[in-house]
Amino acid sequence: MKSSDLDVLIVGAGAAGMMCAIEAGKRGRRVRVIDHARAPGEKIRISGGGRCNFTNLGTSGANFLSENPRFALSALKRFTQHDFLKMVERHGIAWHEKTLGQLFCDDSAKQIIRMLTDEMKAAGVVLSLGLGVKTIARDGERFTVDLDDGTRVSAASLVVATGGKSIPKMGATGWGYEVARQFDLRVTETRPALVPLTFEPGLLEQLKPLAGVAVDAVVKTAANSASSSPKGDRPQFKEAMLFTHRGLSGPSILQISSYWREGEAITVNMAPGEDVAARLLAAKTENGKQAVHTALGHIIPRRLAEVICAREGLSGKLAEVGDKKLRAMAETVNAWTVKPVGSEGYRTAEVTLGGVDTAALDQQTMEAKSVPGLFFIGEVVDVTGWLGGYNFQWAWSSGWAAGQTC
Ligand code: FDA
Repeated sequence: MKSSDLDVLIVGAGAAGMMCAIEAGKRGRRVRVIDHARAPGEKIRISGGGRCNFTNLGTSGANFLSENPRFALSALKRFTQHDFLKMVERHGIAWHEKTLGQLFCDDSAKQIIRMLTDEMKAAGVVLSLGLGVKTIARDGERFTVDLDDGTRVSAASLVVATGGKSIPKMGATGWGYEVARQFDLRVTETRPALVPLTFEPGLLEQLKPLAGVAVDAVVKTAANSASSSPKGDRPQFKEAMLFTHRGLSGPSILQISSYWREGEAITVNMAPGEDVAARLLAAKTENGKQAVHTALGHIIPRRLAEVICAREGLSGKLAEVGDKKLRAMAETVNAWTVKPVGSEGYRTAEVTLGGVDTAALDQQTMEAKSVPGLFFIGEVVDVTGWLGGYNFQWAWSSGWAAGQTC
């Protein structure tokens, strides 16, 4: 069997793998990156609607979920959002801040991929595409890796950068978790995150006319949810929400999906900053002849107002409806509590929550504590960011950190 010697074999030419390769290559290591996809950085290409939300100016430990939320801090502090931005600027890539610190390319996500492949080339990294791994064995101090093409690689360091399970259509397999298990490293529970939530058929039928309606909303998990802190604080997100044919989507829902668990409800304020009861009661005094849905339609989108009034059985004029009923309807707008039945799953999830247990890894280097030379970086690790550029920043930071040592 044809065999070659390497310093570093990186499996996965995504955001984390390419960043790691660049850094290791710059240190003079002989680095090869392999990927079973036909092109590098496919998720970068489709990210941010084709413009890649490549980082977030406000990145801090608070934007990540993990069994150990402090694990990510070291890497995030050593290679920050500002460091990545400097790299983007060095390559002349024009960017803009869209909202909430989220940075996007002005032109195309492909510029980020080009930047990374150019840097890999400059650092002498060999990139092999359309190539997967058959088997991995620990061979004394080194790893022996048999590849799909029948060749064998011997490497001092093996870096697993194969991402999570989201979007299987793009080749996501969860293979990195199997490697972790092969070396007796624990993998925490994995589940789809940053994903639309779905409703049961009865509720879907009632809300059918709302498909396509978007509102600004504050969304949080319900009071007794698993994500409540001991003090009762619950994560909440104020961003757009979208009614879909399956349930709810939009940034605020994707965010809360990372905290939501089956059987739990979420609470949605569809008119943040508005005291809907006070507005309706004032409208009743000023002009009781207007229809209830018309008055409500001045506060939230008209189609939504109509459906809520229909569900509450309030079809008449404001003056004909008792204050108690108006208050109850207002509560539905300001604090709608609804129980999703599930999520759209890995098919549409942006990321995988959970992964290789951070307790098994060194937070400075991403190296497995019990297996010298074996590294896990990016989404395969149990570190999951909020929506908004945080997941790429974790990929850059963890890839950079491993690249200093592997
Ligand atoms: P990533 O998944 O990018 O790369 C893993 C690589 O490993 C892939 O190239 C894959 O082909 C390869 N691979 C997998 N198994 C293999 C095997 N067995 N053998 C060989 N190769 C294998 N985040 C963000 O911060 N801003 C954004 O705008 C977006 N937008 C976005 C949109 C969509 C539609 C999705 C699905 C996701 C996002 N994300 C995002 C999340 C972001 O894409 C994700 O967190 C990073 O790509 C993770 O980077 P990794 O390098 O860890 O894995």
